[in-house]
Amino acid sequence: MAPGDQRQRHVHRGVDPKKITAETVRADFNDLLAVVHYTRAAHELGLWASEQALIDRFFPDHRTPLLEAGCGAGRVTLGLWKLGYRNLTAFDFAEELVDQARSLAIERRAAKIIFLHADATDLTTCHELKESSFGGALFMFNGLMQIPGRERRRGALRELHRACTPGAPLLFTTHDRDSTPTERAMWRLEALRWTRGEQDPRLVEFGDRYFQDEAGRTFMHLPDRREILDDLAATGWQHAFDAMRIEVAREHHAVREFSDECRFWAAHRG
Ligand SMILES: C[S@@+](CC[C@H](N)C(=O)[O-])C[C@H]1O[C@@H](n2cnc3c(N)ncnc32)[C@H](O)[C@@H]1O
Repeated sequence: MAPGDQRQRHVHRGVDPKKITAETVRADFNDLLAVVHYTRAAHELGLWASEQALIDRFFPDHRTPLLEAGCGAGRVTLGLWKLGYRNLTAFDFAEELVDQARSLAIERRAAKIIFLHADATDLTTCHELKESSFGGALFMFNGLMQIPGRERRRGALRELHRACTPGAPLLFTTHDRDSTPTERAMWRLEALRWTRGEQDPRLVEFGDRYFQDEAGRTFMHLPDRREILDDLAATGWQHAFDAMRIEVAREHHAVREFSDECRFWAAHRG
């Protein structure tokens, strides 16, 4: 997943005039290309050095009940299990990925992990997630930013807030819209397209991208820092930390191939 990557090509405008919805994103993650990509990452890549450093820092107690949103094929949750966390619940709205995560958990003798099929923007449909019982939550590798529409992203933050106990940490990542001069120049052009009404008609908001790469079709919203600070404040989360990945840890080549630079965020449930 690399929004600034030149290998990516935009999905052509005009092919499908409908706006991108949660259903579009779910179908893209259930697609074979994405399933193979994320399953391989769960089997072979595991936790990044930066993820592990921040998990150690914000979730020091291995007995705390943790909730992973957008778990995909289980890369992060199985990584948490390997570190010794034993009270783990993870969910994703792409059934194919949840099936892969369950199967990997059995293979790794981690069948105690609870994997659920649920949508982050409405956890009330899942009785295991109705209570405020989690001492921490994670939404890693930009999953939150793959929810189309700012109000729906705020909805997901509110749902995680409801599922967590007071003071619980939340860890997630975003891709910055303005981290390099090239990206700033690209987004200035995109802003001009929006002013003229010439943007990809399927995009929901300025900052959205819909592209295709080795992981299949990917929708992603790229925020600026202010946007996330406002969203956290509006949904009851107190900002605790944010930094670019490179400031947190030096990553192995395989991790940099899998995901380009991103920003980590941590907040506490108010
Ligand atoms: C980039 S993938 C990351 C998967 C996994 N966490 C990893 O790091 O390999 C983002 C995940 O978020 C999930 N996701 C996106 N929107 C979601 C939503 N509204 N509810 C639940 N899961 C969602 C996708 O299905 C996908 O598995």
